[in-house]
Amino acid sequence: MLNTRSNRCRAIAILFLTLALSSSSAPAQDSSAPGQQVDARVDTLLSRMSLQEKIGQLTQVGALDLTPEQRKDLGDLLPEDPVSIEDHVRRGEAGSILWTTNPVFISKLQHVAMEETRMKIPLLFGYDVIHGFRTIFPVPLALAASWDPDLAENAQAVAAQEASAVGINWTFGPMVDIARDARWGRIVEGAGEDPFLGAAMARAQVRGFQGQQLGTPGRVVGSVKHFAGYGVAEGGRDYDGAYIPEEHLRNIYLPPFKAAIDAGVGTVMSAYLDLNDVPASGNRFLLRDVLRRDLGFKGFVVSDAMAVRDLQTHGFARDPQDAALRGLTAGVNMDMASLTYLRNLESLVQSGKLSMTQIDDAVRPILEVKIRMGLFEHPYSDSAAAESILTDPEHRKLARVAAQRTMVLLRNENSLLPLKKTVASVAVIGPLADSEKEIQGSWGVEKAAQAVSVLEGVRAKLPHVRVESVRGADLQRKYPSLVDKVFGVKPTVPLAADQLKSELDRAVEAARRSDTVVLVLGELANMSGEAASRVSLDLPGNQQQLLEAVVATGKPVVLVLLNGRPLNISWAAGHVPAILEAWYPGTEGGNAIADILFGDANPEGKLPVSWPRTTGQVPTYYAHNLTHQPEDDKNFTSRYLDVPTSPLYPFGYGLSYTPFAFSKLQLSQTTLAPGGSLQVSIDVENTGRSSGSEVVQLYIHQRAGSASRPVRTSTCVIRMNLLFS
Ligand code: NOJ
Repeated sequence: MLNTRSNRCRAIAILFLTLALSSSSAPAQDSSAPGQQVDARVDTLLSRMSLQEKIGQLTQVGALDLTPEQRKDLGDLLPEDPVSIEDHVRRGEAGSILWTTNPVFISKLQHVAMEETRMKIPLLFGYDVIHGFRTIFPVPLALAASWDPDLAENAQAVAAQEASAVGINWTFGPMVDIARDARWGRIVEGAGEDPFLGAAMARAQVRGFQGQQLGTPGRVVGSVKHFAGYGVAEGGRDYDGAYIPEEHLRNIYLPPFKAAIDAGVGTVMSAYLDLNDVPASGNRFLLRDVLRRDLGFKGFVVSDAMAVRDLQTHGFARDPQDAALRGLTAGVNMDMASLTYLRNLESLVQSGKLSMTQIDDAVRPILEVKIRMGLFEHPYSDSAAAESILTDPEHRKLARVAAQRTMVLLRNENSLLPLKKTVASVAVIGPLADSEKEIQGSWGVEKAAQAVSVLEGVRAKLPHVRVESVRGADLQRKYPSLVDKVFGVKPTVPLAADQLKSELDRAVEAARRSDTVVLVLGELANMSGEAASRVSLDLPGNQQQLLEAVVATGKPVVLVLLNGRPLNISWAAGHVPAILEAWYPGTEGGNAIADILFGDANPEGKLPVSWPRTTGQVPTYYAHNLTHQPEDDKNFTSRYLDVPTSPLYPFGYGLSYTPFAFSKLQLSQTTLAPGGSLQVSIDVENTGRSSGSEVVQLYIHQRAGSASRPVRTSTCVIRMNLLFS
């Protein structure tokens, strides 16, 4: 993927196409570290460590600060643990801590590890820094919609810098699960449906989190997740199993992992799912044959939270001891939060079921990562510098640009957008219109910066215009969010029927009083993400009713969507003149939306997912194989009798305020042997009256071969900035 900058109105995109049958690029892991060679240092450490200290390194302890009611509410989700975190560290029973962002606590624990333990091995502090820390960037699906890996890299570099300022040195990202079923809530955390775009985003995010190599100051170690196939959850139900043929596993689901590994990612997280009936966190084939042998991964594997204990829940392991045995022998180095290794590995070694060599082999890459990160030399963050890093105004500036560049203009009849700033009055309507919480999306950290809502963004853009706002509708999860429970977020109170009616009436009146309506609909942040799958892609709550009522006023309506997955907007696509997909754009979201709405920025995002017309079309993706009947939406063929086969909006789609013309497609040669490459060039011209940037996408298609191949697959994209002159 290339990034071309040009200030000319016309430019030539040159794309290199390499037909690769197998790829053998070596992992870009650094073999040198400060002081001694890494291997020798690890050997020295291992030779001095007791079995218990080794098991400690294989243990990650959860540090959630739960009230007794929360703990009760969570049932047996987390293990009962009479030992304090500090004592675990003091006893050498923890190689890592997760789920704390408190700099004082982090520093305290690191001091205990470095000063009060025999081996003085620094701790890794892990946290889900998924799309920002203090400054929240657009959600990963949105970052993928920018089709701009440099942007994703820069955003994650800022996230890493802010997280490391409080002492976090490990993030559980990037999430690179290919997702083709929008019912699955975690589609929001990845780069969408395409292995090529997914690989580019994976690589970029690893570089952003980690820098050029582990140990880059102000960066953190990444954890590419969830290995592997998690996005294929049957029925889109989170945590559900998947049956994935090896051909699909290798061609579709593994390429983003390979890209992350080749970019030097330090850790991999094993998934929750049953892959072909074997839980991923107890799956030797996945973790040894594929990950270590085929993909050449040299770092360490951490299980997803509780996944080692849950090998028993799956009906796979007999008891906790068997779970520990199966997790370790399958290739999980570190047990996240379940304390199953801590409580069972010692007896497994004593009974001869595990050898010390197996334990050493599991500990080795954990120590290696810590050494490569330079943690032994620099275990602490610089608390004096933290506040200035966390409040750096440049971070918000980048967040605003990132948000602008991730939005996708889906419809713009008669160029309704951009709106004129001379408009006399605007109604900003919708249950998400003035929410600074929802605009941040899932995985927002509790101490995130104050975000700008859409209403605030529009008001700031139009200081002298009458801008009124009405909620108009309501939406709620039916069942509470697991993640909210864990982080102590209280569910919102639903509106009663009479309140809903009066909100709807007020919204219609506000629309009638105004020149233009900006209608902000979508999903609450906790309706996508973990444990947030839906059976329906319809607008939740009574938002469809609100939409139809506001459109019926006859006022020009711009629909702004805040959501983490494609939604059923087929009615809107036929009745609302302008639709802007803003995803969850983060801290600067409201400002960036106003920038696009009023023409201070050009919408340049392209869909990283095919947008289904209706829920029944999922899974929806463009790279499907041809069938024995040609694709033809106008004439009924054989697929569905009630809706066309094609999506509402295709993968790679997105409008702009300025049109681009493509011409003179040329290939440097007309045949291409496996492993060979050719050059493709095309003239791209900005034929409009304003500046804009365009993504040039190149797809290939096989006419004949030893197996059927998808109708098209993406191979190369180039983003070009073409200013009008
Ligand atoms: C469970 C989630 O599946 C995973 O993505 C996350 O990183 C861990 N919990 C840690 O919070």
